[in-house]
Amino acid sequence: KDPFTIAIDGPAAAGKGTISKAVAAHFGFAHLDTGLLYRAVGAKSLLGMDPAEAARTLTSDDLQANDLRGPEVAQAASKVAVIPEVRAALLDFQRSFARRSGGAVLDGRDIGTVICPNADAKLFVTASAEVRADRRFAELAASGAAISREQVLADVMERDARDRQRAAAPLKPAADAVEIDTSDMSIEAAIATAIRAIEHRR
Ligand code: C5P
Repeated sequence: KDPFTIAIDGPAAAGKGTISKAVAAHFGFAHLDTGLLYRAVGAKSLLGMDPAEAARTLTSDDLQANDLRGPEVAQAASKVAVIPEVRAALLDFQRSFARRSGGAVLDGRDIGTVICPNADAKLFVTASAEVRADRRFAELAASGAAISREQVLADVMERDARDRQRAAAPLKPAADAVEIDTSDMSIEAAIATAIRAIEHRR
């Protein structure tokens, strides 16, 4: 049997990152934030590189760039993410990561539907757009970014719409995903709910 794979998908700023890190630590699994791959390609496209070429030549150094977290790169990421050649170029790396011995947690938009359709456990983490904007705003404000809450809400909603409406691997829950709405949950409660749902599949 393949190593245990956990797929965690959902819209922007729903808490996937926090939950994925905690789940990976709990089970002793490796964690891949797949959004970082698209952000790295988006950052290169902002510098003028062809997105498909950027995806094909991506290196681990590109993922270490410390300016990948901002809203401009996020928008660029969601724009390059609609390009089938970009998604295809990133597929093997993600699937190899998922097969790592010892187990893996991957979080993104299409892990349970496209990257790892046979994942052992699939979660779809959501929260209302307002709650997600509040959380992302708090994060960005704490890191010193000069951006308003309204701007963050508009950014999150624009990205979600693009991610849901694209033809290639759109954001949607896999038929067998467990949905967790974190709107009214503390971080601790969301993590505990996720771990319980996964334990169920072990
Ligand atoms: O998760 P994060 O917000 O960092 O992702 C940035 C963008 O990358 C998303 O808005 C989405 O367009 C794209 N993405 C994707 N598929 C994934 C992960 C991210 O299309 N598996």
